[in-house]
Amino acid sequence: MNIYESAFGLKNKNILITGASSGIGREIALLCAKHGASIYALGRNEEKLNSLRNKIGRRYCKIFSFDLTDNDRINEFIENIEGVDGLVNCAGLIAMTPYKFVTSKLYSKMFDINVKAPLLLTTKLLKKRKIKKRSSIVFISSINGSCIGAKGFTLYSSSKGAISGLVKSMATDFSKLKIRVNEIAPGMIKTEGIESIMANASSSSINEDIMKYPLGNYGSSEDVAYGCVYLLSDASKWVTGTKLVIDGGFTLI
Ligand SMILES: NC(=O)c1ccc[n+]([C@@H]2O[C@H](COP(=O)([O-])OP(=O)(O)OC[C@H]3O[C@@H](n4cnc5c(N)ncnc54)[C@H](OP(=O)(O)O)[C@@H]3O)[C@@H](O)[C@H]2O)c1
Repeated sequence: MNIYESAFGLKNKNILITGASSGIGREIALLCAKHGASIYALGRNEEKLNSLRNKIGRRYCKIFSFDLTDNDRINEFIENIEGVDGLVNCAGLIAMTPYKFVTSKLYSKMFDINVKAPLLLTTKLLKKRKIKKRSSIVFISSINGSCIGAKGFTLYSSSKGAISGLVKSMATDFSKLKIRVNEIAPGMIKTEGIESIMANASSSSINEDIMKYPLGNYGSSEDVAYGCVYLLSDASKWVTGTKLVIDGGFTLI
């Protein structure tokens, strides 16, 4: 049996992935396609989305470039797509904001994309019956906020903690439709999204930080993508409302 047809396969599944132009979302899109899925890839950067589509192939990857905080664009997008079997809410903003610099404007910037956009996208898709029965919805949160805190990350942590709460309630709401809702909480993953944060840290403090990961090193986008394929596939058909922590053991100690 090939991987397409195993319980972990995604053959004949249509998966919508936000944040697919970069980092973790891009890797999830590539791995889902390898497992047989057709992809709706969302992002803002058209060049990066084009490069993803070239890699997967036009027949199996449709790209959509718009800002997810733009409600009119979300409505227009939803009207023009077929129903999906899986949704991955991965788009997000990672930023350090020392509490002294927290403002209402920065709060809105963080929460609009990390909480409001995935919440509205998901509920609008459901109301328009674009999420099929027995589908799987995955939210990418973070250990930062859903398991632990980190200095300077009050805004980011609160936005990701909100996702943990949202997942549990949504999982209860949608269980009658047999739609599963789960969360993946990654530790530090090497992506473009954390480049600016890493750029401000010295190599000795990065090495010190890596030492806190029992399995060594930071994670890769692929580590998260494998967990996501599991949650999207029928292999997890009795799993809902859970948090899959992918952090090399960071939160163990
Ligand atoms: N990297 C980590 O260590 C880590 C750890 C835990 C959790 N996470 C979470 O994983 C997710 C992905 O992070 P990443 O590291 O892969 O970051 P990334 O490389 O910066 O990717 C972020 C993605 O989100 C999209 N995006 C951001 N704002 C958007 C908006 N307003 N409208 C539409 N799309 C938007 C970006 O699209 P464009 O590039 O096209 O603008 C990009 O595709 C985030 O939710 C992050 O919080 C990351």
